[in-house]
Amino acid sequence: MRKWDLFFELYENLPRQGPGDNASTRKAYRMMRGLPDRPRVLDIGCGNGMQTLELGRISGGDVLALDNHQPFLDRLNRDARSAGLERSIRTVNRSMKAMRFEDGSFDIVWSEGALYQMGFLKGLKRCRRLLKPGGWLAVTEAVLFRTRLPAEVRRFWREEYPDITTVGENIRKIRAAGFTPVAHFRLPVRAWITPFYGPMEKRIRGLARKYRDDARALALLETWRKEIDIYRRHSDCFGYEFFIMRRE
Ligand SMILES: C[S@@+](CC[C@H](N)C(=O)[O-])C[C@H]1O[C@@H](n2cnc3c(N)ncnc32)[C@H](O)[C@@H]1O
Repeated sequence: MRKWDLFFELYENLPRQGPGDNASTRKAYRMMRGLPDRPRVLDIGCGNGMQTLELGRISGGDVLALDNHQPFLDRLNRDARSAGLERSIRTVNRSMKAMRFEDGSFDIVWSEGALYQMGFLKGLKRCRRLLKPGGWLAVTEAVLFRTRLPAEVRRFWREEYPDITTVGENIRKIRAAGFTPVAHFRLPVRAWITPFYGPMEKRIRGLARKYRDDARALALLETWRKEIDIYRRHSDCFGYEFFIMRRE
């Protein structure tokens, strides 16, 4: 069993691929002002697109959803058709590290739980170029709520994302990238559990039964189960922050 095969078998069947929920997507969207009637929106690292569908519903605009894993995009295309949103949502299979859109093409760039793939600051700078002057960027990013951390939390983030930092430090990066930070809020615990970790725990149990004779698969599943456990015990130490900012 190859790690990535099992990873996608786990993730493809979840309602979403990272923390977040429609209420938080809507809350962030409503913090943006002066939008055109039909904004052009780019959703980077859309996964199977829970937030893309919500953006399609609430923006009344044209949403382009970008990811580099085709099965996520296939599912989003199916769900967009079922929701009657196939005319407003399009998908593109491309790496966010090779985005070749014209500068200034979008009114809104959105990215939930994915910008870190480019590095937060570098990702912000790339998004800025894609925005029209006065355009909006909304992103979620893993953050630390305190700097003194229990050893297992420190170890976990050192392996997963050593660049994780505080809300204040991220706001400094937002300014350094040429944005005005307009608002930010913490994703509630329910946005981690209801659409993400809850279904993931159930799926891990199912896969553990399926691969009960495969020691490597079981060890990988245990790593992911432990990740959920760390969050459940230490959600006061880290989480996701929604940052809403405007291009100067
Ligand atoms: C943590 S998931 C978030 C998905 C979705 N936004 C959500 O919140 O459920 C990160 C997403 O980024 C995508 N991704 C990772 N590296 C990428 C890259 N270089 N280019 C485009 N997408 C990428 C993954 O396929 C995955 O769908």
